[in-house]
Order: sequence, then structure tokens, then C-alpha cells
Amino acid sequence: MPQRLADTLHRIGVEMAQVQERGRVADYIPELGCIDPKRFGMAVVTAEGREVQTGDADTSFSIQSVSKVFTLALALGKLGDQLWQRVGREPSGQAFNSILQLELEKGRPRNPFINAGALVTTDAVLTGATPREALGSVLRFMRAAAEDEDIHIDADVARSEQKTGHGNYALAHYIASHDNLLHPPELVCGTYFHQCAITMTCRQLARAGRFLMSAGQGPRLVSAGRVRRINALMMTCGQYDGSGDFAYRVGLPGKSGVGGGLLVIAPGRASIAVWSPGLDEQGNTLIGTLAVERLARAMGWSVFG
Ligand code: DON
Repeated sequence: MPQRLADTLHRIGVEMAQVQERGRVADYIPELGCIDPKRFGMAVVTAEGREVQTGDADTSFSIQSVSKVFTLALALGKLGDQLWQRVGREPSGQAFNSILQLELEKGRPRNPFINAGALVTTDAVLTGATPREALGSVLRFMRAAAEDEDIHIDADVARSEQKTGHGNYALAHYIASHDNLLHPPELVCGTYFHQCAITMTCRQLARAGRFLMSAGQGPRLVSAGRVRRINALMMTCGQYDGSGDFAYRVGLPGKSGVGGGLLVIAPGRASIAVWSPGLDEQGNTLIGTLAVERLARAMGWSVFG
């Protein structure tokens, strides 16, 4: 398998370099708008601990919403199942930054991966902590998961989003108006922007995802039952209003970010990270999704048999 995996990854890297339509780089966070859409990297860590990569797998990128998986794990660690009183577990069928459902559903976000839901999980991580301490706990979790201390926050990206993040401020204030935030909206947003501005390489992200693969690789940070549930949420909600199509095409739980990153878990088999900055209509990496679709098909990895 290792040689087949390495050959497959190499072939996918070559194929992806040839694709002309690469999507649109997110520019609503100005600092992200200048990334070259031709960049592509992919890394896989297998259940046996083997690590394989292709392309720009050692280039750092802004993980953005991929961070929501890690803050969900931390929020569940802090509040346990009480978290579900404040945020739902249903796919939203709406854009990641939509405010529509929030009004209809009285300030309780549909799931922890849309922006509104992630603001609630960030608020939970802030319980009993300053923003600096909360961000410290997020970084500590990432570094422990990846077994790599060289994971940091890009302050320029955080500042860039802080200046332009009116939609997120609106979401936070609306949630607060329904008493579903325990901390001031500005403070929650500031913490959330910094968590999204963490930069990682594909190699680091694939290693950080090992705790979700339940294969005994890497440190065990979360119980097996909770891992199953986080994977279920990644499968149903991880790509926003593109989650159904992702499940159909890839058949594995995944979480995307507007920096073009994508973490995908083949339970019991592999943790996969891919990065290509051009996005599709739903804000998910266009080429990254195609690459994971080809990898999953070639390796026969799917939770659907
Ligand atoms: O809140 C935002 O807009 C960004 N910090 C993160 C959004 C994101 O990554 C959505 N994913 N595709």
C-alpha cells in the first residue's frame, strides 16, 4: 500500500497542476487575496504512521475554518454535551456566513461549523479564560495533535479580518441578543479571527488530524466516542451548503477553510490534508476537493463501503 499511495499522490499532483479552472481565491479577507491560485499541496498520514506528500505540502497557509474542528473538540472538552443546548447538529444548507437561519431559530446556530456556530464554540473555549489563554489552549491542542511546536497565528491575517469582519460581528451581536454568548461579541470575534488565522502546512495539518482517524497514531486527545461524533459532523456539515455533494463525491468526513485548506479523515485508515487556494461557489477548495475525490476513489477509501 505505501508505494501505491505514494504513486497515487504523485499522479494526482501532476494531474492537478494541469487543471485550468482553479476557482477564486477569497479576497474578502484582503490578506488572503494575494495568494497564487496555482499553489497545490497534499499530505497523507496512514494508520500505520507512514507519511506521504506531494507539491507544496510544506508551505504554510491560513487554515481558517479548518480550525473549527479543533475548537469544537476543545469546546466539547469544556462543556461536554451541554454545548448542544447552544448550537445544533444539523446541516444548514446555507452559506457559511449566512445570518438568515439565525433569526428564524432564535440565535441558536444550526451547527458548529458555520460561522455563527463557531462563534458559539469559541465563546465556550473562552469560559474561564482570557482571549490570550483561550488562543493558547487552541495552539497547544494543535501542536500536541501534530506533535510539532512550529504552529503559529499570522497576526496580519487576523488584523485583516478584524478590520473587515462586519458580517461576523453582526452574527455575534445577534447571537448575544438571544443570550447565547457569555462574553462580549467583540472579544469572541477577536478570538475567533485569531484562531482562523493559524497557519499550518499540509504535512502539519495531516498530522494534527490523526486523532480523528482512530487508528492509534499520534497522541490520543479525545475519546473514541467523541471522535466518531466530530467525524459525523464533518460529514454532514463540514463543507456548508456543499456538504451533500462532498459526501457523494468523496465519501469521507472533511472540513474546509476559505484559505483553500481541507482536512479529510478516512476513519481507521488515513488523515489527509490538501491545500489549493482557489474556491468554488460554496467557499470550499475547488482543486483540493477534486484531488481528495481522486485519492479516495483510487485507494477505495469511503465510509459508505
Ligand atoms: O469567518 C470567516 O469568514 C473566516 N475567518 C473563516 C471562514 C471559512 O473559512 C469558511 N470556509 N470555507
